[in-house]
Amino acid sequence: MTEVRTVGVVGLGAMGAGIAQLCVEAGLETIGREVTAELGETAKGRIAHFLARKVEKGQLDGQERNAAVERLRLTTELSDLAGCDVVIEAIVEELGAKLELFGELDWIVAPDAMLATNTSALSVTEIAAATTRPERVVGMHFFNPAPLMPLVEIVRAELTADEPFERAYALGERLGKTPIRCHDTPGFVVNRVLIPLLNDCIRVLDEARVSPEDLDAALKHGAGWPMGPCTLVDLVGIDVHVHASEALYEKLREPRMAPPPRLVRMLQAGKLGRKTGEGFYRYD
Ligand code: CAA
Repeated sequence: MTEVRTVGVVGLGAMGAGIAQLCVEAGLETIGREVTAELGETAKGRIAHFLARKVEKGQLDGQERNAAVERLRLTTELSDLAGCDVVIEAIVEELGAKLELFGELDWIVAPDAMLATNTSALSVTEIAAATTRPERVVGMHFFNPAPLMPLVEIVRAELTADEPFERAYALGERLGKTPIRCHDTPGFVVNRVLIPLLNDCIRVLDEARVSPEDLDAALKHGAGWPMGPCTLVDLVGIDVHVHASEALYEKLREPRMAPPPRLVRMLQAGKLGRKTGEGFYRYD
């Protein structure tokens, strides 16, 4: 199996920046691509901040931290990813945008490079079909916040070949994660369960006329969740959650999959959670 040396990460939002952080911490040369230099710099600043916190807490050596930050090179040009052994896509959860990106990456990277998508609920098989090498496309689905959540789902699409699939699994391990192997079904493993569950939680807000604070306390103290559902949806992003719900509902047609109207209204109002400073809660 080809050893991974250089990783490209396309899209440096919350997920992409988290994935890039994992890559540089694991000693991999990493090229992060954002649409503007400012967005790239913001992501790099975020990574530098979290790594500095690790130094302050004695979890990382100061020199190692500086070397890790240095390993992240920023670009706005996709063509700069030409030498990558692996490219991980973490852009907006819209099928059209992903198809376009994979179509472009197809002729930029080497024929034996592996292309991975971090999609939460879209079909990896459909994304792979935008390329002339669907056998080299896999899903690597990380969880938010990527540097902290141990799981990565390694998703085998219809035409994925063994070598890239195992390369993705080995990369997951190298990034310090607990990878699992699964097939390309709607929502894979965790979101197939978690998305309808979170939607039920949001519906209970209105049905039981309970406050977000009390609902969060209920699931934390009555079901052992590490954070309550409203806090979690705010962290994931209302937009990401609604899009994932719509994608699952479109495929499985189960009413619980459909986004609750309350979340759709929040999306329309631009209350997207932590990223916009307001969701169920306010963030300063
Ligand atoms: N990136 C890097 N480092 C981060 C970070 C981030 N985004 N967020 C926090 N950290 C670091 C910080 O440095 C922090 O330390 P300081 O506060 O001292 O600076 C450190 O991590 C620990 O943070 P916390 O004290 O907040 O850690 P915690 O023990 O409370 O655990 C948690 C946080 C792991 C997020 C925990 O609350 C948890 O497991 N929550 C559930 C999250 C979850 O379910 N995620 C899945 C979402 S669904 C999804 O992602 C699927 C999808 O497709 C949409």
